[in-house]
Amino acid sequence: AAIHYHEFVIEAKPVKRLCRTHSTITVNGQYPGPTLEVRDGDTLVIKAINKARYNVTLHWHGVRQLRNPWADGPEYVTQCPIQPGRSYTYQFTIQNQEGTLWWHAHSKWLRATVYGALIIYPKLGSPYPFPMPKREMPVILGEWWDRNPLDVLKLALFAGGAPNVSDAYTINGQPGDLYRCSSKETAIYPVEAGETILLRIINSALNQELYFGVANHKLTVVAVDASYTKPFTTNVIMIAPGQTTDVLLTADQPPARYYIAAHAYNTANAPFDNTTTTAILEYESAHYSAKGGKYLKPIFPQLPGFNDTATATAFTAQLRSPCKVKVPIEIDESLFFTVGLGLINCKNKNSPRCQGPNGTRFAASINNVSFVFPRSTSLMQAYYQGQPGNVSRGLWQPVKGTKLAKLKFGSKVQIVFQDTSIVTVEDHPMHIHGYDFYVVGSGFGNFDPKNDPAKFNLVDPPLRNTIGTPPGGWVAIRFVADNPGIWLLHCHLDTHLPWGLATALLVENGVGKLQTVQPPPLDLPQC
Ligand code: C2O
Repeated sequence: AAIHYHEFVIEAKPVKRLCRTHSTITVNGQYPGPTLEVRDGDTLVIKAINKARYNVTLHWHGVRQLRNPWADGPEYVTQCPIQPGRSYTYQFTIQNQEGTLWWHAHSKWLRATVYGALIIYPKLGSPYPFPMPKREMPVILGEWWDRNPLDVLKLALFAGGAPNVSDAYTINGQPGDLYRCSSKETAIYPVEAGETILLRIINSALNQELYFGVANHKLTVVAVDASYTKPFTTNVIMIAPGQTTDVLLTADQPPARYYIAAHAYNTANAPFDNTTTTAILEYESAHYSAKGGKYLKPIFPQLPGFNDTATATAFTAQLRSPCKVKVPIEIDESLFFTVGLGLINCKNKNSPRCQGPNGTRFAASINNVSFVFPRSTSLMQAYYQGQPGNVSRGLWQPVKGTKLAKLKFGSKVQIVFQDTSIVTVEDHPMHIHGYDFYVVGSGFGNFDPKNDPAKFNLVDPPLRNTIGTPPGGWVAIRFVADNPGIWLLHCHLDTHLPWGLATALLVENGVGKLQTVQPPPLDLPQC
């Protein structure tokens, strides 16, 4: 296994999109940031150097980080942020994971521009469980704002849903040529007639589930969240923020230019943004039309409507593990988490935060606790190093809503997420750090503990790290709590996270060295 050393310099650089140039937080001057390519079993050593004006942390979304929460990254959970002028080296090993993951900033809304792909190839000499594609490339879906995303965040937090509609969706950082002033800002995917390519699709958008398709081409889904699936063919995929989906595409159409496109799904509460981000699948030899060397106009795909819940549900329901898997059957810990948006009475009605109806502000919660991140230490440091601060004394009697769910090492866990939003109905993509989990069932309406479990798929459910709680519905997951540490569990819609739609799993140490959290690295940032 190899060791990969990287330096990630986080700094502001001018980036031009939609005819305007912004100072944008980048990694090594790149937006999106660098693609990391490793094999299963390899170690990554990434020195993050903060040359920006903001506190920052980096998170390796979906990496299990076994016994190594110190490298996980969510600010104030596993580490204090890296302050401007400081650095921190993330060191971790990929253990039994293959496919597509990604990395992103995990502090404020910096992940709007600080993100990139993390590609994990099989160990040297092991093949993919599908025919070797001729080429492969990341397709990172994102969002772009004409304003500083941190200012947009402030507005969104105070005023509710409206400002979270971005000025463009993007593919690999490019809006595509359907937006104003963006004719040159289009990612091109070259392909030769007849060959099969692997697209590694990542939804890094802050707040939007997306439909994705390629004109006239079928997509064969082979993996989600770095776990292989039973292959199936589809015209369109639905992907929620945080999720990844690997698809094979065979260039079996007449040589031409075809749009690769994504647009919003489930914008129930936001003004519908009907613009679509595009890239171009370009057959070699099809660059130019006969007419005067002009680029051929690409063919456009049919995507479902933004409120087409049936297609999204049907797509998600088709995902299966490739064969029979070991799902926990007898459950030791059964957790029921209501997740939802709500309104909290303002203490100070004149505060700019107080923009909800009748003197309220917007909030989100799990089991009616709106999560409050500590400020003077991280939860990990408070727990494992007994550091003073407002957390250590309150860890067992939660202080100000910093409420953790405590789990014994090795326990078999079931969590049912139930959407109870009273403000609007939304799909909450729930993500757990440090774990993959089996998605054993889901449905609309209220979870029925008597009858629904009988319908669970305990044979070949998909293994994921992020799953949508259907709007007004529920989803059930199962996993073994085999990774000790404190692991953030949250909605991957980035307005909902600061509103408090989060908790953390405190998985206690087991017995013996291999079941306990490793000691923290010496350069762990202090608050
Ligand atoms: Cu991709 Cu806690 O995040």
